Amino acid sequence: MKATHLAAAALACLMAFAPTQAAEAPRLVSQNGRHALLVDGKPFLILGAQAHNSSNYPGALKPVWAAANDLKANTVLMPVAWEQVEPVEGRFDFSFVDTLVKQAREQKKRLVILWFGTWKNTSAQYTPEWVKLDPRRFPFNRDRDGSSNYSLSPFGAETLKADKRAFVALMGHLKKIDSTERTVLMVQVENEVGTYGLVRDFSPAAQAAFEQPVPAAVLARQKPKAAATGTWREVYGDYADEYFHAWAIARYIGEIAAAGKAVYDLPMYVNNALRNPLEQPPKPWNKDFASGGPTWDVIDIYKAAAPAVDIVAPDIYNPESAQVNANLRLFGRADNALWVPEIGTKPAYGRFLYAMLGRGAIGVSPFGIDYFDYSNHPLGATATDKTIVEPFERVYRMFAPIQRQWAQWAFDGKTQGIGEGDDRKPQQLDFPGWSAKLTYRLGRFGEAAWGGEFAKPAAGTEEPGGGAAIAQIAPDEFLVIGHRVRVRMEPAEGTKGLMLRAEQGRFDAQGRWVMERVWNGDQVDYGLNLPAEPMMLKVKMGRPAQP
Ligand code: DGJ
Repeated sequence: MKATHLAAAALACLMAFAPTQAAEAPRLVSQNGRHALLVDGKPFLILGAQAHNSSNYPGALKPVWAAANDLKANTVLMPVAWEQVEPVEGRFDFSFVDTLVKQAREQKKRLVILWFGTWKNTSAQYTPEWVKLDPRRFPFNRDRDGSSNYSLSPFGAETLKADKRAFVALMGHLKKIDSTERTVLMVQVENEVGTYGLVRDFSPAAQAAFEQPVPAAVLARQKPKAAATGTWREVYGDYADEYFHAWAIARYIGEIAAAGKAVYDLPMYVNNALRNPLEQPPKPWNKDFASGGPTWDVIDIYKAAAPAVDIVAPDIYNPESAQVNANLRLFGRADNALWVPEIGTKPAYGRFLYAMLGRGAIGVSPFGIDYFDYSNHPLGATATDKTIVEPFERVYRMFAPIQRQWAQWAFDGKTQGIGEGDDRKPQQLDFPGWSAKLTYRLGRFGEAAWGGEFAKPAAGTEEPGGGAAIAQIAPDEFLVIGHRVRVRMEPAEGTKGLMLRAEQGRFDAQGRWVMERVWNGDQVDYGLNLPAEPMMLKVKMGRPAQP
């Protein structure tokens, strides 16, 4: 054998035994007030599917994959419960996590793990028995009269220690099984925290902390209301109790998240059962939401007290368009990536995917996506079969082949989107140089102003259901994705311009545009009329020279 052949053989041999190269860890990046979740080093759009709460057992996974596949989701959001991984104190069992990760890879899905620990929808229901049965060691919040509340206290030092240890064990396990393939993208720490019916913990430990000066980190971010410095009451007046509770819970979660990240550094977030986003300015807590939860008005307290928590995310269960839009605006900030880990499965929510993805969300996920025979109606759809995924699949289908490209465009600030308003009124999306005018309930031919049949709302538009997301892919070129909407691309006010070409098409698996036909004549004379099933158009605009 020649020396060169020998060297080549040795190299081949070495390569066969070299470990597979580890993929880059998922991470969040920001630029110019926008955000991206980098997966394998490139922006990734989570087209998520969140399973029902009790689907976190090996035997329950089949209907989860079935629904997630029907939805064309690329990521499944799945609880991992404290009671499940540490049924006996100090003895961990991650067999479900192993099964989940293995099956996710077989199904070609990524995962977001939801840590159901001290708090799940504010309560202790997912803690192990040894926690539930020992309130002296794991205390509940106390009311003013000293009576015990249903929700665990954020001042329970032993609870924090125990939850943190379990979470760290989980993150250590994920590191062990996943730091090469990176199937798990993010981790949610606890679930919908806060306390219903009680504004804060009044235990002696909590009271002592309440009487301390507000920490400087909080003062720097959450604008003082009454005095510039002092105790919580002095600084925040009528808002003191709820702000204090938010700080106490955020600090608790922040400590858990930081400890978990120290072991395995994945993006982490908290989710929120929302307060009314239209109450402006927000009034002091009046039993109308879970006090202490990461509502939009205390995002700054969470940022100050829990810097290891990357995102505060809204769970959207009110389909009124004004509510949805306000929540997207309030949670999508330069210091907070928009990420919607839960929306109801009622068909009315489908159109808002355009708003979320157009606004540059790193992802979205309908909740209750599995075919287990259970419905969370009236929050979600009544059905438990394939019909639950349809309103979302319709939109995911458009974005799935271009999710990487869309995430990049969004990160670069080139995308916008909106769902039809409950008022059914026209809407406008402004881009540099051009505007998209959106109208609804029209047929695909003619103008409503002509009256008679032309003015009658088109069949199938009885409920608001349309929407569009648009990317400006070149200065004069747009990718329009939408359904049940008439889109007119027009030159920005005061400028001249016209549409040169509208191609209907799709992207192939390699992300290349495949033109199917060119729309002209009737198909463009009355705007671009996108039908009930979503469509994708590549639209070229132009500016004529002076004659
Ligand atoms: C929001 C919670 O985060 C979910 O886990 C679930 O309980 C839904 N509410 C209701 O189905």
